[in-house]
Amino acid sequence: MSDKNRIIIFDTTLRDGEQTPGVNLNLSEKVEIARQLELLGVDIIEAGFPAASQGDFEAVSAVAKIVGCGVAALCRCNEADIARGWEAVKHAKKPRLHVFLATSEIHMTHKLHMTPEEVIQNVAESVALAKSLCDDIEFSCEDASRSEPEFMYKVIETAIASGATTINIPDTVGYAVPGEFSNLISGIFENVPNINGVVISVHCHDDLGLAVANTLSAVAAGARQVETTINGLGERAGNCSMEEVVMALSTREPAFGINHSIDTTKIYRASQRVSAITGVPVSPTKAIVGANAFAHESGIHQHGVLSNPMTYEIMTPQSVGKTESTLVLGKLSGRHAFTDRIESMGYNLTKDEINSAFVKFKELADRKKDITDDDLEAILALITDVPEHYRLESFQIQSGKLPLLPMASVTLFGPDGEATEAATGNGPIDAACNAISKIVREEGTLASYNLDAITGGTDAFGNATVRVLRDGELHMGRGVSPDIIEATILAYINAINRAIARTKNYERKSS
Ligand code: KIV
Ligand code: ZN
Repeated sequence: MSDKNRIIIFDTTLRDGEQTPGVNLNLSEKVEIARQLELLGVDIIEAGFPAASQGDFEAVSAVAKIVGCGVAALCRCNEADIARGWEAVKHAKKPRLHVFLATSEIHMTHKLHMTPEEVIQNVAESVALAKSLCDDIEFSCEDASRSEPEFMYKVIETAIASGATTINIPDTVGYAVPGEFSNLISGIFENVPNINGVVISVHCHDDLGLAVANTLSAVAAGARQVETTINGLGERAGNCSMEEVVMALSTREPAFGINHSIDTTKIYRASQRVSAITGVPVSPTKAIVGANAFAHESGIHQHGVLSNPMTYEIMTPQSVGKTESTLVLGKLSGRHAFTDRIESMGYNLTKDEINSAFVKFKELADRKKDITDDDLEAILALITDVPEHYRLESFQIQSGKLPLLPMASVTLFGPDGEATEAATGNGPIDAACNAISKIVREEGTLASYNLDAITGGTDAFGNATVRVLRDGELHMGRGVSPDIIEATILAYINAINRAIARTKNYERKSS
């Protein structure tokens, strides 16, 4: 198939995806996601918005240094953003600067306070400045789907004349519908005189649940870059989901005639990793990667699938890397078997990370006989570089039917040594969190709490994800244990440790 039929997969999980409410990734988590994206075979990773914060700058620089694919940095149309973006991304093998400015009437008037002429002038100067630093320039017309097409054509023409090689058309607010969106793309090909040789990209949000449909309609109209996130993470209702677009293009290859670079057998693992790292669960009915995506409940369907899977399956679970979770290890398994297994699962951990993962594995294998791949995934998601400011030493819970008041006594090891507190609460979890709050003397509230069993059976690990609201910011925490109250306490302490690490980082960086 010729190159003109190859689609560029531009992944923005680390930038737009990280804007998912409640997602707050640290550097090692961003690097781990970047590694997963590279394993998947994405063409370009948008690693962040370097001017937004020191943390974003450091993450983009780190990703730029370790991956071989393209790395993009997002910048507004101003000198400071472009200089900062270039500083972060310049070490990448294939650096890209992604410059954006809104082109819709509503954004120009109420957000930018700029006239259309000023917007054109600003685009010309900013793209030219970016081009003086970096060869590969993407320009986005923010809110393109609500922009006046004739004005947008002029902006695009200016961006190309100033050096842009990719023009991105975002449906920023998820307002477009497929027929109209593909017409917008065709209109650009027909009305922008210097469009030849430039890649048209699309970036769709999912407010009306149409992000994938709009993206595919744009591909049919000639767009050759799609901007996506794993599991459809992103602002509000999220972005166009990478796994859905890629599997649509693969499964309906004769209809689209498009090829891509994604190794689809790595999709399921990447989705699981991103979900574990971000703490955003995947809905069971989510296309491609949901737990039920390949499950057949009705007897008629089961019968059909048994005699020929193609009766009810348009793609195989194996094609997205979804296999039965295998029983792999137990408490007698040694470090060698453990390391072999996690490497075969696609992990590439440092010696220190393997050591701490192995300690956690041993602790948990003592309490659960059979450790599956899914259990290992959960254990590995606990390995991050969050310093253990506080560590759980022991706890005791008393709970029962009213009038008995749930009570918890918790002992933590912290910077001042060991401390024990007891508290009551509406339930055992509330009581334990109250006792912890007394010890850490931090004002934080449990904003969300999610608990699921990793595998079936009464001895399954409980996997707890919490979000603690502190100083107006949400901090995610995770905990895994066969005891669900312990899993929750561990998750709560993890969230507090993350909140403290974040504050300390800011103190260090602003001093
Ligand atoms: O949704 C949007 O418009 C964006 C741009 C910055 C590309 O994320
Ligand atoms: Zn966006």
